Amino acid sequence: MIPLTIGSKADAPDRPAVIDGSRFNRHTFWCGQSGSGKTYALGVVLEQLLLGTDLPVAVLDPNADFVHLAETRDDVEPDLRERFAGLDIRVFHSSTAQEPQLHARYVDLSVRSQAAVGRLDPIGDEEEYNALLHLDKSSNAFDRDAFLRALAASGDPARQRLGRRIDNLEILEWPLWSFGRSSVVDTVDERPRVVVLDVGGFSHPSEPQAAALCVLEHLWEHRMERRPLLIVIDEAHNFCPPVPRSSVEAQLTEQLIQIAAEGRKFGLWLFLSTQRPTKIHPNVLSQCDNLGLMRMNSPRDLAEIADVFGFVPVAMLEESPTFRKGEALFAGAFSDEPQLVRVGRRLTVEGGSDLAVLAAG
Ligand SMILES: Nc1ncnc2c1ncn2[C@@H]1O[C@H](COP(=O)(O)OP(=O)(O)O)[C@@H](O)[C@H]1O
Ligand SMILES: [Mg+2]
Repeated sequence: MIPLTIGSKADAPDRPAVIDGSRFNRHTFWCGQSGSGKTYALGVVLEQLLLGTDLPVAVLDPNADFVHLAETRDDVEPDLRERFAGLDIRVFHSSTAQEPQLHARYVDLSVRSQAAVGRLDPIGDEEEYNALLHLDKSSNAFDRDAFLRALAASGDPARQRLGRRIDNLEILEWPLWSFGRSSVVDTVDERPRVVVLDVGGFSHPSEPQAAALCVLEHLWEHRMERRPLLIVIDEAHNFCPPVPRSSVEAQLTEQLIQIAAEGRKFGLWLFLSTQRPTKIHPNVLSQCDNLGLMRMNSPRDLAEIADVFGFVPVAMLEESPTFRKGEALFAGAFSDEPQLVRVGRRLTVEGGSDLAVLAAG
């Protein structure tokens, strides 16, 4: 047992609420309606994991909520500040204004994922898919214009169509691609304590998912090395929805289903946060052993939670609609017994990009 204090008991403010950090070698589901305090509570848990364990963490952060994870708040005690200062926390940005930028290599994707990015079906688009399959993409300092020119001049109609497709979809214009610069995958491979992928600043809707695919496919490919990593995904419905809306999303969902089903024994542990249980794929949800539930009003959603997490007393689930912001139910492998909790204060600076409403004047 690695005790992590994440707040106080909801019914006894003087008693600490403790979860077991050693049980993050399971998948964790974090859920509650918008504004219920999921991301804040997730931050509290991450901070305690950083202080109390050696577990490396990668965060897919669609709202730039964790970009200040290395900065402690002014009111935090000096010894905690010092411990945070000693942690190797690396943040990669997707908005062009901030360094270092988040890049990944297109050629690191599996052919299936490269095809998904190009919306190519192996059967429906057999010739172009086949052209992609047999292209030499080995060059590290990949040059966009030379690549498209070579396809156009290849004399092979399938390659020419593939080139026009890539050109038309403007895939190579995505700021995500590294084009010879280093990839965030290399950083994840080094296993610093935390890698934050701030994926919210991309303009193409598939870029955050392609970034996730680059990292997750690589981790899966190297799973036999059994190097533990906690993979935190906020707004997880954008990464593994029950019904994928694009070929990239389908490919990513499939990868996450595989990690959910088989990743545990290889040290690939998921921590997924979303608003409703039905917003992520059921084959991912059903693999989660830890539950953090914030306020949730809908009886149907609570019934779904009761169904998937059969070990949680229904009477406790039924309290969820009465939770205030920052109140939660923790249950499952990481909680000795199901407990109602008031989540404690963050130690590091919250990110996020909520806009303030200005008063008329
Ligand atoms: N336990 C808490 N203590 C103090 N402020 C909180 C707490 N939980 C949430 N908040 C604040 O409430 C707002 C919404 O919380 P957030 O975690 O972003 O919700 P969600 O991720 O569920 O949409 C944020 O501005 C956050 O700072
Ligand atoms: Mg949130």
